[in-house]
Amino acid sequence: MKASLELHTQFQIDAVDDRIFGGFIEHLGRCVYQGVYEPDHPLSDANGLRADLRDALKELGVTVVRYPGGNFVSGYHWEDGVGVAEARRTVRELAWQSIEPNWFGTDEFIQLCRSLNWQPMLAVNLGTGTPEEARNWVEYCNALTGTYFADQRAKNGNEEPFDVPLWCLGNEMDGPWQLGHVPVDEYCNRAQMAAKMMTDCDPRVELVACGSSGPQMPTFIEWDHRVMQRMGSRLANYISLHRYVGNRNEDSADYLAISNAIDNQIESVDATARAVAGQSRDRRRTYLCFDEWNVWYRARTQTDRDGTGRVAPVLLDETYNYEDALVVAMFLMSFIRHADAVKIANLAQLVNVIAPLKTNPEGILKQSTFHPFRMISSRKGGTALQQAITCDTYASESYGTVTYLDSATILEESTLKVFALNRHLEEAMTLTVNCADRPILEFTDGELLSHTNLQAENSWRNASEITPASLKDIKLDAGKAHVDLPPQSFAAVSFQLG
Ligand code: AHR
Repeated sequence: MKASLELHTQFQIDAVDDRIFGGFIEHLGRCVYQGVYEPDHPLSDANGLRADLRDALKELGVTVVRYPGGNFVSGYHWEDGVGVAEARRTVRELAWQSIEPNWFGTDEFIQLCRSLNWQPMLAVNLGTGTPEEARNWVEYCNALTGTYFADQRAKNGNEEPFDVPLWCLGNEMDGPWQLGHVPVDEYCNRAQMAAKMMTDCDPRVELVACGSSGPQMPTFIEWDHRVMQRMGSRLANYISLHRYVGNRNEDSADYLAISNAIDNQIESVDATARAVAGQSRDRRRTYLCFDEWNVWYRARTQTDRDGTGRVAPVLLDETYNYEDALVVAMFLMSFIRHADAVKIANLAQLVNVIAPLKTNPEGILKQSTFHPFRMISSRKGGTALQQAITCDTYASESYGTVTYLDSATILEESTLKVFALNRHLEEAMTLTVNCADRPILEFTDGELLSHTNLQAENSWRNASEITPASLKDIKLDAGKAHVDLPPQSFAAVSFQLG
């Protein structure tokens, strides 16, 4: 099969925001305790982070991390998680029915962010918490000392402000499962109050309002529309999008067409944001923060969600296979193609809970989904280009017609970075890349993720069943590049333009 990708360096979408390579850490299952915080492990540093996990997280290339939830945040009181560790309260946590000892809290999270060069992104409790509690947290994190909460931070060992730049106004507040879930206007009352006080406290902070919890919700778009109308871009710089996908019908061709649905979700929310800006004569519009996305469909039973009475129970322990890795690549390519709308995105989550990394006492495991994330994040930087694709198509059962090629392209000065996925399950593809105004002079580097079995997994016994290989076989001819893509494979390739 032949496919072509026609580009022009002047046909640009927007700068690709580094923050689309974000992650998420929730007090859920083994994500924090036995995950990023394991002080008793022999490999752990003074902050409780294991060296093997630190190396893998660095390699993953995450830029910004959302914390502490998720559903957890809607019952969380941040003051429980600061101060002398021994004096912190152990509480019943209702979102996941677990026990929360509060050993890890704001100061530990900031320390973790600093050690991994992550930008912190905190979500406030607008379920059972008050707008004032949210404002106090901003003061604790961002204010100079001299007033009560900032002084508490100093007392806890951090004289200098944390300067947390990004704050989420609650989590999935349209979901009946959410503690303190309310109808949209009531959410907006809380969010407006919180936003006003939080920005009064620190005008530099950027805020993310809760969009609806996903396209499966009856509230989808109507909720987002109302929230953006009530908040305006002044009180909410971003609206959140969430999506978890899976091969629920055991139909891989269908599953690999899901990029249509991801594109569609982004475009629907973005169209709403533009419409609201137009209606309200707002020169700025609300941008998109896709702050929870991933594959998640296996570990979804009641047992997978119920941590009754335990600290760090095994929850949402999803094992990923090869086709899930291809879908993770599709999410990121969609964010790049929508660089003018999606400014932040967070893979949910980072460790042990629906995560690219698992830990056990002996080591860490890179799941299949680790690789596409790393392949793309390590090539971040630059501007997304528009693409004209010529390629055969197929009609999927659930998501409409798609081209066999799924792709995204970034231009950074003279470097052209092409991400290309062949979703044909049997046929190889030769992809010709042509940049109309500048010849492709040189192939710089490339990686290929390929496997014959879509159900193959990385396991503790066979940890590198799915691993990218370096791509060498690239032909250049008359300023064009030809990339061979095996069936069901994903490549990340960089070229030098003339
Ligand atoms: O990431 C797991 C859960 O999924 C989050 O806590 C919640 O926000 C979403 O429903």
